[in-house]
Amino acid sequence: MRVLVTGGAGYIGSHTVLALLERGDDVIVVDNFANSSPVSLERVARIAGRAPQVHRLDVADAAALDAVFAAERPEAVIHFAGLKAVGESVAEPLRYYSENLGTTFALLAAMQRHGVRTLVFSSSATVYGDHQPVPYREDGGLLDASNPYGQTKVMIERILEDVAQADPQWRIALLRYFNPIGAHESGLIGEDPRGIPNNLAPYVAQVAVGRLAEVGVFGDDYPTADGTGERDYIHVVDLAAGHVAALEHLRTRDGIRAWNLGTGRGTSVLELIAAFEKASGRPIPRRILPRRGGDLAQTWADTARAESELGWRAQRDIVDMAADSWRWQSANPQGYDSE
Ligand code: NAD
Ligand code: WQD
Repeated sequence: MRVLVTGGAGYIGSHTVLALLERGDDVIVVDNFANSSPVSLERVARIAGRAPQVHRLDVADAAALDAVFAAERPEAVIHFAGLKAVGESVAEPLRYYSENLGTTFALLAAMQRHGVRTLVFSSSATVYGDHQPVPYREDGGLLDASNPYGQTKVMIERILEDVAQADPQWRIALLRYFNPIGAHESGLIGEDPRGIPNNLAPYVAQVAVGRLAEVGVFGDDYPTADGTGERDYIHVVDLAAGHVAALEHLRTRDGIRAWNLGTGRGTSVLELIAAFEKASGRPIPRRILPRRGGDLAQTWADTARAESELGWRAQRDIVDMAADSWRWQSANPQGYDSE
């Protein structure tokens, strides 16, 4: 299949591009490298033994995107491109709404013009907001989110529902990721956040490698087994496989549907730190801090729908995630800038 991947140089995108190349797809990446490095795709090509076509452009640039669709003739699209920092979205809501919605509108218009009707969209467990009981189910109720970033995902899901309603030719997968961590087992590609990481796993990895001094644990008084927050961490290679499974599913199914991509299990902050200590063989200093505003005590997925309908389930556990993250982080202490 010829698959166009927006944001294909990013963390989840690069692992998914690799999975597609490895199964024989032709891959066209569209990325402006606003939050990634072209080196990620060079590494992907090294692992796969073949390279994607790469177009450096902003997805919101309608004319440039049109030219890519005309030249490359994709059959399906996976849409990763977007901004994803929760705190930044609270500070700069207009930028988030305009970027995440603007890129999606431009993409949908180009797809419509070129007769491409198969789309896999990067949604997030953030759309479950803070009213639903764990485990989160896809049909658990009205979607909501507690920050502008999350609202862009709720809004885009809604827009895509309307698009699919209006034209039954569309085939759309809404993939609600839980907490993606880990790296490809080669240690050649992985997560490379700019500046100080916002998320726990890359922060812990950077403390382990000596780039940061200690992990701040945001609260140890939650109603959980050890008092720290629990999340459903999912290995990024399993997540990439989930995209392949969704694309396969869409070959034969019309309409729009949401699937959770998680493991169905919660891991606490202290358990994650312990897994990284074991993987790295190094002590990881930590300090208990007050809770971070907006955090929930526990989130994890109900994975039954993805298992039964996509035939997909996560294969890797937290030990694999920490080992693979550490392999990537220790071989590339400054991320892709280590080259
Ligand atoms: P990432 O920032 O590593 O990747 C996004 C990619 O999109 C980057 O390569 C960036 O350069 C590119 N990009 C951004 N704006 C663009 C534009 N206007 N035109 C072209 N390219 C552009 O992020 P990621 O972690 O790989 O996330 C991918 C998607 O998954 C995002 O939509 C994100 O919201 C979603 N998601 C991520 C997580 C997570 O925890 N990482 C969880 C749930 C959902
Ligand atoms: C995990 C746990 C923190 C950092 C975010 C987005 C969500 C999704 C994934 C895109 C929590 C604790 C964290 C630290 C800590 N992204 N923590 N010290 O908040 O579950 O989800 O990323 O869609 O929308 O909100 O992930 O990694 O930030 O936090 O103690 O330095 O680690 O309190 O319990 P989160 P996270």
